[in-house]
Amino acid sequence: MTIREILKMGDPHLLRIAEPITTFDTPELHALIADMRETMASVNGAGLAAPQIGVNLQLVIFGGVSVNPRYPDRPVVPATVLINPVITRIGDTEEFDWEGCLSVPGLRGEVPRWAHIRYTGMDEYGQAIDRTVDGFHARVVQHECDHLIGKLYPMRVRDFTKFGYTEIIFPGINAAEDD
Ligand code: NI
Repeated sequence: MTIREILKMGDPHLLRIAEPITTFDTPELHALIADMRETMASVNGAGLAAPQIGVNLQLVIFGGVSVNPRYPDRPVVPATVLINPVITRIGDTEEFDWEGCLSVPGLRGEVPRWAHIRYTGMDEYGQAIDRTVDGFHARVVQHECDHLIGKLYPMRVRDFTKFGYTEIIFPGINAAEDD
């Protein structure tokens, strides 16, 4: 396993449309996911998308962080490998909450997301995933899957008075730990 470099906003590789994965349960795919897990854990991230390490595939990982010291009250999202995802919103309720991104270190912004979604896709073995979720879980999925269509959360910010440096907006948070 290798900790991979995380690309930062401004890198054109983060703006691409990712390609679907067509073969599952291969050594290459498992090795890529192992690298992504190690990379995400090394920075205490809530999720990571393959394009963030320069791999232009429709693959995201998220969850499994047992207790994030920054967000002790947040529900635990199951550790998930999600490939070729499709998100369908349920209803039209939006929720605003703060997000950060490993590709946008040191910053936070308030981002609208669909409150309720269904998402489908595959895991690394080609097994179908089909979940209906809301709240923080739904937010994480929408954030990560945005990376597969070249979208970073600042592109979703509507009120730029709610976008700034973590250390200024949330003085108690260690800005080195970003999601
Ligand atoms: Ni991100």
